[in-house]
Amino acid sequence: MSATTIDRQEIADQLTAHNQSHVLQFWDELDSKQQQHLAAQIQAVNFEQLASLQTGASIEQSWEDLAARAELPPAITAEQFGQGDEFAKAVEAGSNAIKNGEVAAILVAGGQGSRLGFPHPKGMLPIGPLSDRSLYQIILEKSLARARQFDSTIPFYVMTSPPTHDESQTFLKENNYFGYGENDIQLFCQGVMPAIDGDGKLLLADKHQIFVSPDGHGGTLAALEHNGCLADMQKRGIKYVFYGQVDNPLIQICEPALIGYHILRQSEMTSQVVRKNEPLQKVGNVVSIDGKVQIIEYSDLPEEHARKTNDDGSLKLWAGSIAVHVFDLAFLERSAKDASSLPFHKAHKKVPFVDADGNRVEPDAPNATKFEKFIFDLLPSAKNAIVCEVDAAKGFCAVKNAPPAPSETPDHVKAAICDLHRGWLQDCGVAVADNIQVEINPLFAVDAEQLRAKTGDLKQITEDTYLI
Ligand code: UD1
Repeated sequence: MSATTIDRQEIADQLTAHNQSHVLQFWDELDSKQQQHLAAQIQAVNFEQLASLQTGASIEQSWEDLAARAELPPAITAEQFGQGDEFAKAVEAGSNAIKNGEVAAILVAGGQGSRLGFPHPKGMLPIGPLSDRSLYQIILEKSLARARQFDSTIPFYVMTSPPTHDESQTFLKENNYFGYGENDIQLFCQGVMPAIDGDGKLLLADKHQIFVSPDGHGGTLAALEHNGCLADMQKRGIKYVFYGQVDNPLIQICEPALIGYHILRQSEMTSQVVRKNEPLQKVGNVVSIDGKVQIIEYSDLPEEHARKTNDDGSLKLWAGSIAVHVFDLAFLERSAKDASSLPFHKAHKKVPFVDADGNRVEPDAPNATKFEKFIFDLLPSAKNAIVCEVDAAKGFCAVKNAPPAPSETPDHVKAAICDLHRGWLQDCGVAVADNIQVEINPLFAVDAEQLRAKTGDLKQITEDTYLI
């Protein structure tokens, strides 16, 4: 929009109609660039949607009622995953899909990582225990290694958000996408949503700026569509889309058997899960309610249901989401066309704002409602959804918190990487003491099996070693 096309009166009328006139309160103090910015932001707000989110039927569920009916979803347990006829067929089906170029990967990296307190996009966090490789590098190298394993290509799509986009773009480009061909990786930016205060009013982050934040990882769906990624996948002959989060360097990118089970069971959406290490572990609970698979967040699952056990004392709802999914591309395309496929969730948060006197206020209690979509809300509408269990030590250790938190800090994650790789070496008959750090680049070996072919006469490692 150019400066001359701004019709202040039109904008003012629109805001008045929606009871949001305060947004223009500082208009006359703004320079023309700031006015343009604010006008563009106002144009982008869907006021009807906001009003219905504020006043309409609550999207929050009766968790107590749902939890009471929750069962375990159809699951391939870790025991099954690794042996038997179906497993062998799954490995074959998944391997063929990768070989035939039918598999793409999406990494969601739009979160602001506020709990970690790292002043850059989380993907840039150095996490390689010896190599100092970033999360982005580790994950991209894993994907590249997987593609090479099958002499194929895995197109890679990274979802950023306005706060993480530019820096991620520069970082990845400067590092030549860590070996990915420029034609096989695409960054795409998710959308944003404004927040409202207790009276339904938009908050000003600055005199010329409405507060907005990323619209949740559920924004992936619309962003994939808007940015042409679904069409690009279609053009490339993709059938299956692997999805993961940037915070988990143990992620098993495009694990063939996971993709294979998804194919064999004709599932439209398959989720990888861990067996929860304690009833209240802070992971989403994957459950089945009235025959539909869905996730109940740890914060929503009433404790008495989280603690329910089977006759043998084991946890009833044990399937913890690690936010790794496999989708049929056709399912994503169908869901992207259906505006109602993902509801907004509300979160009450502290949002700093500029008050009527033009002063910046840092609230000490939640003052605003933010709206986010969650990608896992697609599960109930997916046909034949299943979950596959992975041993957490092999596939899940996310970095979420800054020290001295008791878990999920960078140090915990580095230790988990070393433990996994030490275990691979030990499986290959190489002695490594517990106090020795080892790290294996995926381009050297993606798993213990590949490693075996490379260890040769190596019998012992006695000093910290990065195999590359
Ligand atoms: C999330 C899941 C939880 C799961 C856990 C596993 C939700 C609500 N919960 O929890 O079920 O057990 O991960 O680690 O998701 N992101 C975006 N855009 C956004 C918001 C987030 O791309 O607008 C990305 C982040 O970059 C991150 C991921 O989504 O990669 C998860 O976000 P986060 O807020 O850290 O989720 P958790 O609460 O840790």
